[in-house]
Amino acid sequence: MYIPQLEDLGDVDGKTVLVRCDFNVPMTKMENGEFEIVDDFRIRSSIPTLKWLVDRGAKVIACSHIGRPHGKPDPDLSIAPMAKRLHELLPEVEVLENLRFSKGEEDNDEAFVKELIKGVDLYVDDAFGAAHRIHASIVGPPKYLRSAAGRLLAKETQVLSSLLEAPERPFVGIMGGSKVSDKMGLIQAMLDKVDTLIVGGGMAFSFAAATGHSVGSSMVEPDQFDTCRRLLGSTDKIVLPIDCIALDKEGKFGREQQSGCAHDCDVDIPAGWKGLDIGPKSRDMFREIIMGAKTILWNGPLGVCEDPRFSAGTIAVATAVAQFGGFSVVGGGDSAAAIEQAGLAKYISHLSTGGGASLEFLENGDLPGLKALRESPT
Ligand code: 3PG
Repeated sequence: MYIPQLEDLGDVDGKTVLVRCDFNVPMTKMENGEFEIVDDFRIRSSIPTLKWLVDRGAKVIACSHIGRPHGKPDPDLSIAPMAKRLHELLPEVEVLENLRFSKGEEDNDEAFVKELIKGVDLYVDDAFGAAHRIHASIVGPPKYLRSAAGRLLAKETQVLSSLLEAPERPFVGIMGGSKVSDKMGLIQAMLDKVDTLIVGGGMAFSFAAATGHSVGSSMVEPDQFDTCRRLLGSTDKIVLPIDCIALDKEGKFGREQQSGCAHDCDVDIPAGWKGLDIGPKSRDMFREIIMGAKTILWNGPLGVCEDPRFSAGTIAVATAVAQFGGFSVVGGGDSAAAIEQAGLAKYISHLSTGGGASLEFLENGDLPGLKALRESPT
């Protein structure tokens, strides 16, 4: 499927180009009330497209959403820190305020689209991370303007398509994250593509509970148990953890609140304890599978990695994925952040900027933002 590229826009010199970016990056509020960007990967990733346009004489206006303010201005979700960072990298670009301060963005409101493209000649979508949203700034401008995919959107689409079409085998998928319901569609879609699917993170406890293990107070989704059982009965590709690290009763976990004791457990967890990471035997087993692969797709952390007591599983997987020597794609905010924080990004073939977008693309092979570009006037 052909998606129009920057070159298809024709001569951009003197033209006003609206570029939809995904500057939705993690931030922390400092003691002086100002915000600091924790990871500017998505901002840096937008530079090749923005620079390509600036270098060819275009007047470039970048726009993005930040967080979920649901149609109301929120000073904590201003685009100002991102605009500041972008201007350090490329001062020539104008940046619009958070699109989601207007209700019209998420409502895909036609009047908001028309407002957005007033005085604009061309549209470029480079917001891969948001290309699964049917929002005004994603699907609206391509109805009226000559449009193209930016370099980032094009690269992400091409890499993920190659995984779906012709991966080098063995192809191993690693799925982590807390909610099995969020990823069940992807797990089912990936089972057709991969040779082995490692399932870790909170999701694994629903599989364990569904097959009769005691999981203590670990997070489970009972309405998913039937599907978990059906999948385990229909394929031997799924590999689950064989042990875990569990927090004892009343313990607290997370970035800020850390109390109680963490214990190594096998798959059965004592009553009241919570499994929050994979254990050492699972780390070794997953490493061995990863080292034997030719292609890896990893999405989602294996434990609560913002709490150092439960980060070893994610770090072990990150290290193995960096070392196995084949083609690796890592997507999803937390797994990509784990790779970045461990200083391993340079060993990953493709670090995706998309969380939900990469999952939806892998599941459906298409995204609303891509469809809009394909149907745009050329
Ligand atoms: C993301 O962070 O995955 C994208 O920016 C999309 O954000 P959203 O889930 O709030 O639409």
